[in-house]
Amino acid sequence: MMCLLFPSFQIGIIGGSGLSDPNILEGGTEKSFKTPYGDPSDVLIFGKIKNIDCVLLARHGRKHSIMPSNVNYRANIWALREAGCTHIIASTATGSLREDIPPGCFVILDSFIDRTRVRAQTFYDGAPGSPQGVCHLPMEPAFCPDTRQLLVDSAKELGLKFRPTGTCVAIEGPRYSSLAESHMFISWGGHVINMTTVPEVVLAKEAGLCYAAVAMATDYDCWQEKGKGVCVSDVLKTFKENAEKVIQLFTHVVPKIAEKDWDSTIDALKATVESNIMLPH
Ligand code: ADE
Repeated sequence: MMCLLFPSFQIGIIGGSGLSDPNILEGGTEKSFKTPYGDPSDVLIFGKIKNIDCVLLARHGRKHSIMPSNVNYRANIWALREAGCTHIIASTATGSLREDIPPGCFVILDSFIDRTRVRAQTFYDGAPGSPQGVCHLPMEPAFCPDTRQLLVDSAKELGLKFRPTGTCVAIEGPRYSSLAESHMFISWGGHVINMTTVPEVVLAKEAGLCYAAVAMATDYDCWQEKGKGVCVSDVLKTFKENAEKVIQLFTHVVPKIAEKDWDSTIDALKATVESNIMLPH
């Protein structure tokens, strides 16, 4: 099997709202992790997809009890790396900021606009036990281009309705946007909006991981039709209706990831991090 040829990869899956269900994995062994940054959102579940080892983590906890600002993104990413992950594929429910991204459509994210305010965005925070130095990491490309490409190929092969690129506006939440904010995000070039992509993508890159995210549009935020804004029940309903497609997509992409030799990609990611750390002198 391919993972014997290229044993130096392991795939982590971060399931967002509506995809916290370990049923995506065959088998499944739970393991608790502690990290220098505290506890991850839940246990990590080790199992297989198409006979390839994967690790699943529910971003908001399996009971969906952790709101976006309280997700311990650093602990989540640290724990997945501790578990040996070189890759993370994440799912996220998002509002659409474009007419041509209807609910149920997927976007393979390639950039973000950060509107979060109270979240730790670095492992290099100067605290005792944290890695040494200050990390000023470039955010282009924010998402791993090679992993993204495999998701794009998979979405095409499965005939899914999707957009191969897109900018995600990450807001602090937990409230949704006002009409004026929604119009502003559209004018800034956002395609979708959520509450979790930042700092998840930032920390994954700082950890040297190949990170890609599949955004599912669940609603049109509040800009489209006056008086008909986003609400939780619509978001969950749309996610539920389309969750099977996310599972299909992840199940399809995992063997593609396993077939590729990632050594040079991972080395390049690590080199980028290392060359952007300023050590005390
Ligand atoms: N998640 C799903 N829909 C959303 C929206 N409209 N705004 C922010 N986060 C979301």
